[in-house]
Amino acid sequence: MIMKLRVVDYGELSGKNVLLRVDFNVQIENGKILDAFRIEQTLPTIKKLRDAGARVAICAHLGRPKGKVDLALSLRPIAEYMKIPFIDDCLNREFLAKMHDGDVVLLENVRFYAGEEENNLDFAAHLADGFDIFINDAFAVAHRAAASTVGVTRFLPAYAGDLLVHEVDNISQFLNEPKRPMLAIVGGAKVSSKIGVLKTLCKLADTVIVGGAIGTTFNYACGNPVGNSLYEPDMAATAREIMDIAAKSGCKFLMPLDKGVGPKFERSAPRTNKFIDEIADTDVIIDDGLDTTARNVLEIDDAATVLWNGTVGMAEWGDVWGYSSFAIAREIAKRTHAGKLISVVGGGETVACLDSVGVRDDITYVSTGGGAFLEFIERKTLPAIEVLVA
Ligand code: 3PG
Repeated sequence: MIMKLRVVDYGELSGKNVLLRVDFNVQIENGKILDAFRIEQTLPTIKKLRDAGARVAICAHLGRPKGKVDLALSLRPIAEYMKIPFIDDCLNREFLAKMHDGDVVLLENVRFYAGEEENNLDFAAHLADGFDIFINDAFAVAHRAAASTVGVTRFLPAYAGDLLVHEVDNISQFLNEPKRPMLAIVGGAKVSSKIGVLKTLCKLADTVIVGGAIGTTFNYACGNPVGNSLYEPDMAATAREIMDIAAKSGCKFLMPLDKGVGPKFERSAPRTNKFIDEIADTDVIIDDGLDTTARNVLEIDDAATVLWNGTVGMAEWGDVWGYSSFAIAREIAKRTHAGKLISVVGGGETVACLDSVGVRDDITYVSTGGGAFLEFIERKTLPAIEVLVA
């Protein structure tokens, strides 16, 4: 059963003041937006509100300013990118009186106030002030119970936006009725940030592949040398517990067989391939190896559903150290494009990897969520979604 969320009747929004929460937490460098994916995914909702004649104030966060004004984390560059007026304090309401039907403005970073992350109800009441309706389209921050995602729903009629509904419907569908065999590929830096999702996936998927630095921690937990690499020694017992869950659930659990190593953790390091029992104390693991990659490709070919989160090497360093991640991205895209595979991909660096090889459009569903994507898989709901259930 897919959760049903309350949605607004767009026909009744003309002249209404709408507070729209979105996730515009994107990378910005020198005022330039490096990846507009999250922004672009919200545009259809904004257009619908505009066409309906609503007066829309967009509320969003950027980074973690910890309740203080930090102009390096201002949302102004996004207002400029979207060509909409910018309001430099999210509690300023003077602009409302000047708005016309169909107007849209962007409010300054809501995390400049400590009340936001504390889900402070006084702050939420201030945020709600002057609005008729609240719409949440911010799936990517729905795992945070904040004033602008949860608290505000106490003060305004609250609805899920189209992107939020779309994310919940699509990801739930993969989780509830996956076409089998189902393969989950989990990479990234830390087991500790993915314990819950790994446990869930070991019960749900037919095969789980762990790679990247997470894979290294699993190799270490099995007694293999890991050299001078990034891994989490404290997570060895947890890694073994996860492997036990997989064994008990009849899930095939696959770790790296070999690794791409260099003498230093740097982009220009020369690459050597080594089997996991051959890693020397001075080796730095930077990517999964050639045999591991070939095995992963075969596993993708055997699967009917693939869920992928986390790159398995330094994909952001290009072809040499992105070898394994790029191979995964290309194979998933090729099989999906051929109609042989249903694929779902989430997480900032994983989506960036799809872009590096130009295959994002071939994936069945690409989520805007990072942490939210993982927590939704683990719990099948999130705090900001729970308050919007119909
Ligand atoms: C994200 O980028 O994953 C969300 O915007 C949440 O950001 P946070 O981890 O800083 O709460």
